[in-house]
Amino acid sequence: MNRILTAEETLDPAYLPPKLVGREKELGLLYRLYRESLTKGVPHHHELNGGIGSGKTALARRLGEDLQKAGKLGGLAVHPIHVNCWRRSSDRTILLELLRSVGVSLPDRGYSLAEMLDVFEQGIRRQPRHLMIVLDEVSAVVRQGTKLVYLLTRPHEVGLGSISLLLVSPEDVLPYVDPPSRSSFGVTHRLQLAPYGAESLAGILTARAELALRKGSWSADVIEQIARVAAPNGDARFALEVLSGAAHAAELAEADEIRPEDVRAAKGSIYPTLTETKLQELSNRSLLVLLALARSLRGPRSHAATERVRQAYQAVSEEYAEKAVGRIQFWRTVKELEREGLIQTEPGAPGDSARLSMDEVPVSFLQTLVETRLADRRPRKA
Ligand SMILES: Nc1ncnc2c1ncn2[C@@H]1O[C@H](COP(=O)(O)OP(=O)(O)OP(=O)(O)O)[C@@H](O)[C@H]1O
Ligand SMILES: [Mg+2]
Repeated sequence: MNRILTAEETLDPAYLPPKLVGREKELGLLYRLYRESLTKGVPHHHELNGGIGSGKTALARRLGEDLQKAGKLGGLAVHPIHVNCWRRSSDRTILLELLRSVGVSLPDRGYSLAEMLDVFEQGIRRQPRHLMIVLDEVSAVVRQGTKLVYLLTRPHEVGLGSISLLLVSPEDVLPYVDPPSRSSFGVTHRLQLAPYGAESLAGILTARAELALRKGSWSADVIEQIARVAAPNGDARFALEVLSGAAHAAELAEADEIRPEDVRAAKGSIYPTLTETKLQELSNRSLLVLLALARSLRGPRSHAATERVRQAYQAVSEEYAEKAVGRIQFWRTVKELEREGLIQTEPGAPGDSARLSMDEVPVSFLQTLVETRLADRRPRKA
């Protein structure tokens, strides 16, 4: 069999891509701010916010690595530490993790936070460096009233290097932080990542497909289809999951390349939006339009021209002895189905009619569902 996933590990959630597509500006800004401060021997603290899959963790890890690679800043090297606070939900467990990362350890009992912090400083003193501590998924601990932000942002002994923080969470947590710590962040020290649009997602997917998949096993059309599927949430993780799922589905089918049906299957199994109840609520006309679209999509393309679908709709209506509606009503029905989240419309190339797509489930599956439903409602004429 001709494998499609030639470097599957690069689709793993833990894999940190060398380049963050479309986040050059944000990365550049944070890099500059941290580097300038550390060069002066002063810590820098920042908060990073953004929705699910907006690249917060990837950006924070890339920043840490890039600062480390910058070499000595103001005479000291940078040591990035990434702590996921979601699993380590108390100050003690987070601090134990920080201790480990500077090469000292303590048993998890009997020590106060202040004592643990002293041991932490001893650890740094052995090898003075700029610590760049990322507290990822920090919302819960901040809301629980963590003391760590206060303890870590308080001025430290000179000659100890500096301790900088990057707080990462979906939403702004500074309002929940004690006022002295908040002031060490300052008013401008917050960066909000916008959700990815279809174009950025396509860029991210293309870069990852080049790393992970055999050349010739994926097309720009399939990338565009996945980007379209993930764009409503702007979530890069979901987009990459669909890419990986589609590649696996294609391999399983022993196909030579990823096909639009593989993307629909992957999308449907990760995040199903099409349910049979939804179909039950649709009018006959909507069902006929869906069936026409499903039939028009059988083939190598992920979308079909409206005009073609309308012709298919006329044929399907005849088959089911329903009176076909005109252009305007047809288009209205299409827009209703789009609002239901069942299909997508997109402007076509200049001079062409709009393009319709349905990425929710494999078209073969949709076709069976709709045909069964129509047959239940009305005995089909021979
Ligand atoms: N700009 C980008 N370029 C390349 N890959 C990206 C980019 N942004 C995100 N990714 C990839 O998308 C996936 C999700 O990103 P990441 O984990 O950083 O999101 P997040 O904002 O931390 O999400 P969550 O809130 O769920 O923790 C990761 O596999 C990451 O490598
Ligand atoms: Mg994250």
